[in-house]
Amino acid sequence: MTPDLRLDLGRMSLANPVLVAAGTFGYGLEFAQTVPLDRLGAIITKTLTRLPRQGNPPPRLAETSSGMLNAVGLQNVGLDAFLRTKLPELQPFRVPLIVSVLGETPEELAGMVEELDRAEGVEGIEINLSCPNVHRRAAPGSAGQTLVPSIVAQDPEATEAMVRMARQRTGKTLIAKLSPEVTDITPVAQAAERAGADVLSLVNTFIGMSIDTVTRRSRLGTLTGGLSGPAIRPLALFRVWYTARAVRIPVIGIGGIVRPEDAIEFFLAGAAAVAVGTGNFADPRTPLRVLDGLQRYLRRCGANSVEEIRGSVALPGS
Ligand SMILES: Cc1cc2nc3c(=O)[nH]c(=O)nc-3n(C[C@H](O)[C@H](O)[C@H](O)COP(=O)(O)O)c2cc1C
Repeated sequence: MTPDLRLDLGRMSLANPVLVAAGTFGYGLEFAQTVPLDRLGAIITKTLTRLPRQGNPPPRLAETSSGMLNAVGLQNVGLDAFLRTKLPELQPFRVPLIVSVLGETPEELAGMVEELDRAEGVEGIEINLSCPNVHRRAAPGSAGQTLVPSIVAQDPEATEAMVRMARQRTGKTLIAKLSPEVTDITPVAQAAERAGADVLSLVNTFIGMSIDTVTRRSRLGTLTGGLSGPAIRPLALFRVWYTARAVRIPVIGIGGIVRPEDAIEFFLAGAAAVAVGTGNFADPRTPLRVLDGLQRYLRRCGANSVEEIRGSVALPGS
């Protein structure tokens, strides 16, 4: 018997639980020739801001052991251009679309969410509360004029304010994307849940650096960037397991998924869905390989759905 991979995620009904993560699959259109988009559970777009952004100075990517650092810095066409030009082109592909947005203030975010709520063809809205490439000036005396990352999802109150504002403006599925860069993720996750998020996405990238010892220069155009890929998988897996036990809303597990068994680890840890990120850069068909492997695994286990194995991790010997 073929396992049934359909799921309800927040207020959306998806054909399967394998998604693509924000910023790693463009707006979806870029891969339409190589990937049958309608086989993806959903596409989460690159994060959009109110106005277009050029992003950070190059270099923006640096390879690391089993991963990569990026300092793309939210390069995007801006919400209006997306709605006018990209969204209509995506319509024929019949794949659920989740639009990722970042507002600099709760008011700006509210306006963006309101527009997306009206936009036909947008199923869900993911609010990016965890970009490591948004900076603020370090406090005087600490690191001089150096810019340091400024992450909303490090603060439960700021997270709650952002999610609440967004919730008031949309009846569509609202996803809060959280940061792993906290000592304990539960207060932030619970704040997002309290404020009305339907789903949590975690994790975004970890803040990292890489320095060329010959030139003594940063390998990124900014000093810091976000670390992703297989290198972060065990760290992400722990945070997903820990969060899934602390909230009632579903969690999308993200972090270093490149093989089917990586995704299965996240389901066993309690994730309701997964999203492939860095794996798309090596091969944009990675999510489809993950999906096929998930089907085979469930069949081998005699399980009819992901729900039958979800969160079933146990201690060795038990
Ligand atoms: C080049 C690059 C760009 C990214 N851009 C975004 C983005 O625009 N918005 C966002 O929420 N996350 C962004 N991310 C983070 C990913 O969505 C994902 O959370 C993270 O990379 C961890 O998953 P992975 O290890 O599978 O890549 C980006 C990641 C990479 C590598």
